[in-house]
Amino acid sequence: MAGKFITFEGPDGAGKTTVLKLVAEQLNEILGDQMILTREPGGNPISEQIRNIILDRKNTEMDVRTEALLYAAARRQHLVETILPALQSDKIVLCDRYVDSSIAYQGAGREIGEQEVADMNLFATGGLTPDLTLYFEVPVTVGLARIKQHRAADDVDRLDLEKQAFHDRVHSAYEKLAQENPERIRTIDATQPVEKVVNETLMILKQALNK
Ligand SMILES: Nc1ncnc2c1ncn2[C@@H]1O[C@H](COP(=O)(O)OP(=O)(O)O)[C@@H](O)[C@H]1O
Ligand SMILES: [Mg+2]
Repeated sequence: MAGKFITFEGPDGAGKTTVLKLVAEQLNEILGDQMILTREPGGNPISEQIRNIILDRKNTEMDVRTEALLYAAARRQHLVETILPALQSDKIVLCDRYVDSSIAYQGAGREIGEQEVADMNLFATGGLTPDLTLYFEVPVTVGLARIKQHRAADDVDRLDLEKQAFHDRVHSAYEKLAQENPERIRTIDATQPVEKVVNETLMILKQALNK
């Protein structure tokens, strides 16, 4: 495939969505419709329905492996409907979260095991790995503070109700992924002001795309 698959990773509150939007605006001037911006669950009806099951606060009985399988199922559909067709038509795909998120959140956060979640996702993705992953790194406390500050108190889903230890495990898992995949994953210090994070991200992307 001739396109490029680039993922944005990191904990909630790291600034992925904010930065991705600003970066996409600037890249759009260079790439035009060669670039597509997407995020899981990806806006297709099947993945959205799966996502609603995961986030429904009434689903208190949900087993952690059920949750991991549902994320992988939603991911699969997004891959088939959006990512693969784009890559096949030479697009640059910028995607907010992918398999690394499941390894960090379900594997480490929910303690299923990183390797098991990675293996299960291999089935879902058929092995499609990003060409480049940008990991937005912030200390757990910074990420949590940013989320709390900007959200109404009653606007929290089931996933937000987790404890500090959970977030610490997620953070450690991301760090480990970055260390173990230095050729794929670039770490960006996301505690910097937004403009700096955006500039650093743009620099890395332009370099990767030879632009
Ligand atoms: N570098 C930054 N410095 C300060 N605040 C930030 C920064 N990046 C993002 N934010 C703020 O933090 C909150 C979470 O950002 P968001 O982009 O939604 O993160 P994510 O998508 O990684 O969960 C938003 O309110 C955003 O305005
Ligand atoms: Mg986001």
